[in-house]
Amino acid sequence: MASSAPVGVFDSGLGGISVLRALRAALPGEDFLYFGDSRHAPYGDKPLSQVRALSLDAAGVLLDRGAKAIVIACNTATSAAAALLREQHPALPIIGTEPALKPAVERHRGGRILVMATEMTLHEEKFRHLQAQFQGQAQVEAVPCPGLMEFVEQGIFQGAAVEDYLRAHLGPYLCAPVDAVVLGCTHYPFLLDAIRAVVGAGPEILDGAAGIARQTRRRLEAQGLLNPRTAGGAVTFLNSLDDPAILARCEALLAR
Ligand code: DGL
Repeated sequence: MASSAPVGVFDSGLGGISVLRALRAALPGEDFLYFGDSRHAPYGDKPLSQVRALSLDAAGVLLDRGAKAIVIACNTATSAAAALLREQHPALPIIGTEPALKPAVERHRGGRILVMATEMTLHEEKFRHLQAQFQGQAQVEAVPCPGLMEFVEQGIFQGAAVEDYLRAHLGPYLCAPVDAVVLGCTHYPFLLDAIRAVVGAGPEILDGAAGIARQTRRRLEAQGLLNPRTAGGAVTFLNSLDDPAILARCEALLAR
């Protein structure tokens, strides 16, 4: 595989663009192919077998176009299909996404940490394992947010509807002090202002995008796949919805 080939990135929709922004900052010489499966979004409330199949198809779209590595810019797809993808493509760098619980615990030992994510992410083995790893080091509480990613898919980032949703879902957890809120879905960083308005100024809000970008850089370097260019990388957006408006929304999110 040539180092000049693009890095493939996929998500159930547009949320993974929050990861793409960090990838672009860390790897400015790389070309990126971003596939958003908006036709099938959300993944988080679908059966596991279906999310596995959709994730394999999404990776297939990128590999057919010559991707040299795959970044799964989706916590849900990572929980469901990362192991399977690695089994099927043992030589391919495959970088997954998981809620940034480790840095949250390191920064707030003994504190109270909320993890917002899809139901699938929170119920799958990957997160349960992660949670068990930090047992006793912090009070970690899982906050399922079904339906929250849809606001981002529709281009709604703030306003009464999002804040009402957040108050209804986060409100019960805010009766006691919170030290950190982990955004365990790649759509949620686009809702940062609305989340901040609801949780208040106190808690630190973390997401995993910068960590994924660093890990991608390490993996490309280790396999001799880093593009020698240091600037000028391009982004190509693909989406399972055949709608030019979606592609325009992708460009706008990347520029946000
Ligand atoms: N961006 C996905 C994630 O990180 C969205 C989940 C969904 O499609 O439900 O989990």
